[in-house]
Amino acid sequence: MYVSHLSLLDFRSYASVDVELEPGPNAFVGRNGQGKTNLVEAIGYVATLGSHRVSNDAPLVRAGAERAVVRTRIVRGDRASTVELEITPGRANRARINRGQLGRARDVLGILRTVLFAPEDLALVKGDPDGRRKLLDQLVVQLLPRAAGLLGDYERVNRQRSALLKSLRGQRAAGRSPDLGTLEVWDAKAAQLGGQILGMRLQLVQAMRPHVAAAYAQVSDADGHAELGYRSSLDAVLPDDAGASAGGAAILPADLADAPPSAVELETLLLAGMAAARSQEVDRGVSLVGPHRDDLVLTLGGLPAKGYASHGESWSFALALRLASYRLLGGTPADDGTRADDGTRADDGTRADDGDRADDGDRSMSADPTSADPALGNPALGNPAPGDSVTAVPVTAHVPRPERPPAASPSGARFWTEELGHDAEPVLILDDVFAELDLRRRDRLAELVAPARQVLVTAAVPDDVPSGLMATRFDVVTGAVTRAS
Ligand SMILES: Nc1ncnc2c1ncn2[C@@H]1O[C@H](COP(=O)(O)OP(=O)(O)OP(=O)(O)O)[C@@H](O)[C@H]1O
Ligand SMILES: [Mg+2]
Repeated sequence: MYVSHLSLLDFRSYASVDVELEPGPNAFVGRNGQGKTNLVEAIGYVATLGSHRVSNDAPLVRAGAERAVVRTRIVRGDRASTVELEITPGRANRARINRGQLGRARDVLGILRTVLFAPEDLALVKGDPDGRRKLLDQLVVQLLPRAAGLLGDYERVNRQRSALLKSLRGQRAAGRSPDLGTLEVWDAKAAQLGGQILGMRLQLVQAMRPHVAAAYAQVSDADGHAELGYRSSLDAVLPDDAGASAGGAAILPADLADAPPSAVELETLLLAGMAAARSQEVDRGVSLVGPHRDDLVLTLGGLPAKGYASHGESWSFALALRLASYRLLGGTPADDGTRADDGTRADDGTRADDGDRADDGDRSMSADPTSADPALGNPALGNPAPGDSVTAVPVTAHVPRPERPPAASPSGARFWTEELGHDAEPVLILDDVFAELDLRRRDRLAELVAPARQVLVTAAVPDDVPSGLMATRFDVVTGAVTRAS
């Protein structure tokens, strides 16, 4: 897919701008503060309903204006659709597809897919877990847009549960015995939603592993081996029956390849975890168990990347995470000979079916996408495809799991299996990235992204951008965007 047209009204520094974009590389060049990032931020917003720079919408609206409008034309396969978003801070966004008003803005998710590289990505490696959780959850939503509702519901339930824990803590501090009945109701809701989220994240991590290892080898010249693992908050509260966790740093689950736990099994584990942590949770008035406390673990040559990796290695890892996301979203087979998809896609990334979700002009008519999704509540949360090789993470670990019937899920089923559609390859956005990289990484990255369906690059210094990405160049000067070639 690619974006063929972008128009903005009162978005960031732009009162009004229209840009015709090309498939393949497009470079936006101009001095600092001229509005280059603002352009690609708008495109990223259409894909994710969020900005990579700010967590609330107010700064996206031009100072003095009440609302911003972002309109994009998205070409997918041989069809195109127009997505228009109206951003009004403090109010629900409004969205239209091909002029048809949608019931909810989040129904536009999935029409445009983007993977954005930015200087902030270094925090994926060096920063706190919330950035890594966000990486996973945004990928889940891009793969299965209706998961946005699930994540929103979990966040709400967790907020309520946390508020309740705080009040129970107050009761206990006042010498009263806390009323735990209501807490159990919230436990059940949180575990039910949390189990589904955890199940999807685990499948995602499993599918990303070969891509991350391959991409790291490509950007770093095969220096060291990059691995992904998943650390669950369950580990701190449930006994480890294998006794294999290193200093409490368990990764869930090291044996993902054998029998990934289903959402239902994970729900059971989360309930057990909450029961085990109850006294601690009430004492502290904090919710300690669930996907909101988990982490994506990055290791390099067996050592945690955070705290150990050099600056350059950390950059390579961050790039590898984004490249892996791009390949996964596009349905690219993993480079090590294993497949990242379910085998229904041809090697050129196209799909044999005609399930093109992007072109639906009448999505407002569709049923609630969060309801009755068999994949979300399905125990079939992903066995690996035949031939997948999943390397055990270097920090071995185990989380106790309930007995399960054998062969509970069809081999190869993944939660996003039916969602990619054809021409799924996401638009790549490289915002201010080349200035951060040494020459070698710059060239390697350019080589890897240049063949993409569409790449949008921003740079203050044109010489920072490898020439292969300058095929279409736009000069950006105080809010005016002019095509230079
Ligand atoms: N809501 C807003 N209203 C008006 N102007 C804004 C708003 N938000 C940002 N700006 C302006 O937009 C400009 C920044 O634009 P942008 O981040 O796109 O720059 P850039 O060209 O990417 O620069 P750099 O090369 O430094 O990354 C700043 O001058 C900032 O003041
Ligand atoms: Mg910028």
